[in-house]
Amino acid sequence: MSNNRREFLKAGLIGGAVAATGLPTLALAGHHEKKPAKSLEILVLGGTGFIGPHMVREALRRGHNVTLFNRGRTNNALFPDLETIKGDRADNLKGLEGRSWDVVIDNSGYVPRHVENSARLLSDNVSHYLFISSVSVYADFNRVNAEDAPLATIEDETVEEVTGETYGALKALCEKRTLTEVGEDRVTVVRPTYICGPGDHTDRFTYYPVRTQKGGEMLWPGSPSHEIQIVDVRDLANFVVDCVQKRTQGIFNAVTPIGAYTFADLLEDSQAVTATTVDPVWVDDAFIAANEARDAFPIYFPREGEDAGRLAFSGEAAFAAGLHNRPPRETVRDLMTWWATLSDERIESARFRMTPEREATLLEAWKARGG
Ligand SMILES: NC(=O)c1ccc[n+]([C@@H]2O[C@H](COP(=O)([O-])OP(=O)(O)OC[C@H]3O[C@@H](n4cnc5c(N)ncnc54)[C@H](OP(=O)(O)O)[C@@H]3O)[C@@H](O)[C@H]2O)c1
Repeated sequence: MSNNRREFLKAGLIGGAVAATGLPTLALAGHHEKKPAKSLEILVLGGTGFIGPHMVREALRRGHNVTLFNRGRTNNALFPDLETIKGDRADNLKGLEGRSWDVVIDNSGYVPRHVENSARLLSDNVSHYLFISSVSVYADFNRVNAEDAPLATIEDETVEEVTGETYGALKALCEKRTLTEVGEDRVTVVRPTYICGPGDHTDRFTYYPVRTQKGGEMLWPGSPSHEIQIVDVRDLANFVVDCVQKRTQGIFNAVTPIGAYTFADLLEDSQAVTATTVDPVWVDDAFIAANEARDAFPIYFPREGEDAGRLAFSGEAAFAAGLHNRPPRETVRDLMTWWATLSDERIESARFRMTPEREATLLEAWKARGG
């Protein structure tokens, strides 16, 4: 276990009790008990995808009232007891007219025009606006980015197609439009990195423990000390509801501390949680680049070059504002518990780019090279 990792786990422990499984049992003691002095009326734009339900449940658990706004296409049976206003951010905000809430949590803003329209409409009818952005907003990823670093721009600001290329600059524009419409003193912008945990439909972080469970020789990217940076969806939800309750304003990267978690730690956690030992084969940055295999290793970036800072965003502002990261082993454990509940169809259609065939081919090439 790395020193950083030890510090990270220590920081996550309150009381220091560690169960026989190796999972710190008291990591979140106290954190979950932040009942508000006043129950808030919260509008969630979205709310039924991956991160939304965690935020909704956390807000309800703390005694707030939640209204949802969405098209009714995604998991629409999830919250039968909540008022859901049907509409479409693209062209139908009618249901929001003439209504007021204490706070809006905007989880579903990707297109600046949509975000601008809802922020303008709601600005006079809410006290606080929290926009879920992304660490993808930054202009450069070859550095450590704190919140005041330059942001990505896009030549044509009317573009509405969200792709890997436009996503970051469009999210940056969404932030800007929210701040302009509502005013800096009433806005919180949260920029999460890779969000992980139960319900994660991206299957990125999930790949590693799920593959580990199969055992045998397993390719791992870079080296054991390659860093990984994530945020557990429950920690993100807690932070968001904390910000809402405390009316925390500002911009916050939502991440685990830089360097606190490595692929060696993820391997260790994956083996412990799945009770499986794999034979890890670490393939280096040069081999991965030469074999065009970067896409097969989720949440991996080479140490050199334009993406060297993709897993090194500063979380200091969020930590000072109360973001608390649980030990990642807990994320791996709960992810695997959730994974076990999924249908065969869902598991078979997992978005893993490292297929068994591709892994076998890469393994063969690595060994042929002298491994
Ligand atoms: N996953 C990550 O690792 C990651 C990292 C950084 C940032 N983020 C950010 O996290 C947010 C996404 O989280 P999520 O998908 O889990 O959010 P969510 O709030 O759980 O789900 C998305 C919601 O938006 C609704 N929606 C989609 N299009 C809509 C439209 N045109 N009009 C009205 N409602 C609409 C969907 O319902 P209907 O389909 O029924 O309309 C659904 O309720 C995004 O802001 C993303 O940029 C994610």
